[in-house]
Amino acid sequence: MFEHAEPSADTIPKTSSELPLETRRSFVGVLLGLGSVFVGGLLSVPLIRFALFPILRRTTELKESPVGAVTDFSSLNEPVMRTIQIEQVDGWRQAISEKAVYVTRDTQGQLRVLTSICPHLGCTVPWNKEKGKFACPCHGAIFAPDGTRIAGPSLRGMDALETSVRDGQLLVRFQYFRQLVPDREVIG
Ligand code: FES
Repeated sequence: MFEHAEPSADTIPKTSSELPLETRRSFVGVLLGLGSVFVGGLLSVPLIRFALFPILRRTTELKESPVGAVTDFSSLNEPVMRTIQIEQVDGWRQAISEKAVYVTRDTQGQLRVLTSICPHLGCTVPWNKEKGKFACPCHGAIFAPDGTRIAGPSLRGMDALETSVRDGQLLVRFQYFRQLVPDREVIG
């Protein structure tokens, strides 16, 4: 029979320096491991946010573009073309592009801005001053000065863009519309 020997007060370590060397090493190793996990977690937060940024943010954002002073169009009696700059934010990318639009009047005489993209298959529609109409050179679609469809293969009139007036400036929000459909449908 073995007798269980109670450790004497002299054999119980009192401080960490009195612990066996192996025990001290593994304790420090655990501390270092936990510290590495904590620091790694902290560092990964901005990386994860950066990676998810395009998903969390609205993918494509088109800002309003100035077309010109409203007074520039006060005596407008036929459509005039203006080139606008579009600032487009898509995920991390920010791009500036140019688009042609027409400033014209609706049947009530209010200013209206039309995209120059043909709603049939996307050609740029020129204003025909002699005929007093828009005439698409690609497949012959004809539109009235306010963009209303007159003839040809397009299933709808030219697309009007959302406008606003701020500090006397006419602003427009450029958008793309689905082609080959009878009703205006924004696609971006
Ligand atoms: S693209 Fe304009 S009529 Fe076809």
